[in-house]
Amino acid sequence: MKRWTLDDIPWDRFDPAKVDPEVIKVVKAASMVEANGGTYAHYLAKVFYDDPAFQDAAFQWASEEEQHGAALARWAELADPTFDFSARFEDFKEKVKLPDEIDRSVRGTRTGELVARCIVEVGTSSYYSALGNATDEPVLKEMCRRIAADELAHYKLFYKHMKRYIDEEQLGFWRRLRVALGRVFESEDDELAYAYYAANHLDDGPYDRRVYARAYARRVYPFFRRRHVELGIAMILKAIGVRPRDWLTARLARLAHGFIRMRAGRLARQGA
Ligand SMILES: [Fe+2]
Ligand SMILES: [Fe+2]
Repeated sequence: MKRWTLDDIPWDRFDPAKVDPEVIKVVKAASMVEANGGTYAHYLAKVFYDDPAFQDAAFQWASEEEQHGAALARWAELADPTFDFSARFEDFKEKVKLPDEIDRSVRGTRTGELVARCIVEVGTSSYYSALGNATDEPVLKEMCRRIAADELAHYKLFYKHMKRYIDEEQLGFWRRLRVALGRVFESEDDELAYAYYAANHLDDGPYDRRVYARAYARRVYPFFRRRHVELGIAMILKAIGVRPRDWLTARLARLAHGFIRMRAGRLARQGA
């Protein structure tokens, strides 16, 4: 059962004066990636073909991601009445193909798949916390609070199932670390970059992955404060089996946040 629905969002409190046009662009992109969650559940159901408990959880998870998509799309259409989510999403769905034709995890093992899912939820939970913090628009703020809580619950869900598979598949620390790092560095990947393009620049010439990945990152990176990164680092350490010690979390967070700030500054200077 969903923890909330679109009716719980206080739409009548929407305040156009507090909308930042740059924020609308990234919300539009996020709405499409989230709305595509259903496709990923079918892939997960194939990878975990003999695990009905996990399959059920995956379909429930996907319905929550789709609801995130619907909520964000509604907000984006409110903030920019020229935005036609359905039309843009049609294009996005056609161009971005998730690996739903195969029945083996693209991460090599089921544990690896679940580690990768945990990393994605780390990214989304800290992203919505950071975005909710960065915006003054009351409806978006409230929506981000709810979505971030869901993403945290998703992380816990995938983590719980991962623990079941670790013993069975004997996936050690180094292999989990490799999957986790691989997924972290995919964060500027095609799905987000294409979503950003399809949402905002479909009529501005052909798609260029590098250009739009950078344009997206430039707008999103400045949202992150050290505390968002710290929480994310603690969650990543837990997913790869490292007890999140405070000093280690703080040190890694300082490094990661420094990198994000440096990259955000460079992208801004380059006018990405
Ligand atoms: Fe989501
Ligand atoms: Fe999620």
